[in-house]
Amino acid sequence: MTTKFDELLEKFHAYLASVDDALVRDAVARTGWDMPARKLEPHALGCLRHLDRGAGLAPPDARPLVRLLAEQRNELHWGQTYTEADFGRAFIDNYGWLEIFGTRGHFVNEEAAAGLLILGPGIVYPDHHHVAEEIYIPLTGGTEWRMGESGFRRREAGEVVHHASNVNHAMRTGKEPLLALYIWRGGPLAQKSTITGTATQVRG
Ligand SMILES: [Fe+2]
Repeated sequence: MTTKFDELLEKFHAYLASVDDALVRDAVARTGWDMPARKLEPHALGCLRHLDRGAGLAPPDARPLVRLLAEQRNELHWGQTYTEADFGRAFIDNYGWLEIFGTRGHFVNEEAAAGLLILGPGIVYPDHHHVAEEIYIPLTGGTEWRMGESGFRRREAGEVVHHASNVNHAMRTGKEPLLALYIWRGGPLAQKSTITGTATQVRG
């Protein structure tokens, strides 16, 4: 079955296949890219107002993908795992993800989940962990990331960030929004994270 999102999956695959990193290569190789489509209703979120700025900041090799995401934003099903009770209103207004494939995404995959995360500027995503291991590829620079007990470290666009299973990690954005591709594998793919930090904990 062809759908209007086939091109999105193709461009997502093409970008991931261009990333020079052993973990990403392994994830791309293990993925069966001929996935059945899943019918999802469009669902928009407030964080989409950061998509154009983020797309403008993305490196040239990611632009075909982010331009298509921007074009199709209103037809896609954007989601949130957290609620206002978890991290507050500002976070919820500036956070969301698109699952391109996975157990609940636009394409069906029971082995791994992958898509795009959006975080607005000046947002703290506090310490949390989950069973699945997580690979992030930021498409915009300037966000600080940390895992375990390490300090925050600024990562640039295209740098691969790996969060091992069940290890705490956190992010905080700077003056610009974060767009990041993610891959989840090796654990429950729609599980809500265990939160150990608070929205005010990690500033400063
Ligand atoms: Fe995570």
